[in-house]
Amino acid sequence: MKKARTWVLLALLALGVVAAAVILSGATAADSAYLPGLLQTDGFPKGCVDCHKVDGKNDYRITKYLPKDHPDVGKLATIPNDCASCHKKGGAGPELPAVMHLSHYQNTEKNGFVLYYKGACLNCHTVDVKTGRVSVKSGAKNW
Ligand code: HEC
Ligand code: HEC
Ligand code: HEC
Repeated sequence: MKKARTWVLLALLALGVVAAAVILSGATAADSAYLPGLLQTDGFPKGCVDCHKVDGKNDYRITKYLPKDHPDVGKLATIPNDCASCHKKGGAGPELPAVMHLSHYQNTEKNGFVLYYKGACLNCHTVDVKTGRVSVKSGAKNW
């Protein structure tokens, strides 16, 4: 009887050690990195327009976020590629990467992109793990 109780105690102790080790080491592949398209399903495979869209009563389309005095973007077809017709070196507007990276990463403590979308590069970019090439997702305009 006494022997059996000792074994139970030992078994519980061993279980405790294993549990503690798991808790202390913590990290698993799933929670160590947020890499949509690589580790998680990509909720925004078309990039900009998959996130900036009409969602129920809310209109998050890009046109709602442009400065008031911004030139008309009605004729554009593919986003963000066509934005670069003006947003390029020597173009009418500031270069696109700078505009995008600034708007989605400045004031991190209250930036919606950082707060609600984990600020992931892979919300806008894709990386081809066979070639190592990084590109920008794109999609048809939704306005
Ligand atoms: C995963 C979601 C997501 C994706 C993808 C995304 N955005 Fe955004 N974007 C946001 C959020 C959230 C904000 C900030 C809204 C806020 O905090 O008011 C924002 C802000 C903006 C703004 C406003 C900038 C400013 O200075 O106020 C523009 C313009 C914009 N995005 C364009 C784009 C374009 C173009 C792309 C594609 C290259 C893109 N976004 C991709 C979520 C996204
Ligand atoms: C016909 C030219 C043209 C096209 C096309 C264009 N832009 Fe612009 N954009 C400008 C000019 C010029 C400015 C600077 C003047 C202003 O702020 O209104 C600007 C400013 C901006 C700004 C403010 C940047 C800052 O630093 O204040 C954002 C954000 C922006 N554009 C996003 C976009 C996005 C996203 C697209 C594509 C959907 C786009 N633009 C397409 C010409 C263009
Ligand atoms: C909101 C969308 C968005 C997010 C988020 C984003 N990028 Fe970009 N990035 C772009 C766009 C659009 C371009 C321009 C592509 C083009 O001109 O072909 C670009 C271009 C670039 C370039 C090449 C041009 C340059 O700036 O030298 C690099 C490098 C880059 N991104 C790195 C990053 C990294 C690192 C992150 C995450 C920290 C990130 N990007 C997050 C939209 C984004």
